Amino acid sequence: LEKLKIELASSIREFPDFPQKGILFKDIMPIFQKPQLVTNMCVAIAAHAVAEIPVPVDAVAGLEARGFLFGPQIAAILNVPFIPIRKQGKLPGKTVRATYVKEYGEDVVEVQSDALKPGAKVMIVDDLLATGGTMKAAIEVIQKAGGDVAEAFCIIELTALKGRDVLLDTVPVFTLLSF
Ligand code: PRP
Ligand code: MG
Repeated sequence: LEKLKIELASSIREFPDFPQKGILFKDIMPIFQKPQLVTNMCVAIAAHAVAEIPVPVDAVAGLEARGFLFGPQIAAILNVPFIPIRKQGKLPGKTVRATYVKEYGEDVVEVQSDALKPGAKVMIVDDLLATGGTMKAAIEVIQKAGGDVAEAFCIIELTALKGRDVLLDTVPVFTLLSF
């Protein structure tokens, strides 16, 4: 896992002042230039879920957009459904929603009301934990849809923004790389 973390860290590019001045943007896209690294990462995350989440995970929920890049692969490895958490207005049918303020801007996330079996143990995945606003809203919609969040997972955590503190009272938080 340490070797994987080093390779992942070296595959993240930094862009100052994107998408706004003062934000140092961490771009995970170069990871996806290395298919073997993507596979190794998803296998390692799935292995972590099996070994370190105390309950069997019934579903993996991914956050639009960057949680969609690797969430479905983790779900497939775990042989459980993938549940999309999307920004407002993208999902058809009845939905539940939560509003949040993020590192830059305000937004609403939704999940389909019938996406989960009642009490389903859900691992939520995203690329990055910054202020924690996005993940907090994701936890809220999964709970509103009847799920029980077993873990909030992100590849990257920006520790200075203390997103973990926003979440820790509610669910276990696990991240691979801290900056
Ligand atoms: C980014 C990132 C996380 C979120 C973290 O997503 O992918 O989802 O911000 O910020 P927070 O912890 O302060 O809430 P963003 O909504 O910018 O766009 P995306 O659709 O490209 O993932
Ligand atoms: Mg995002």
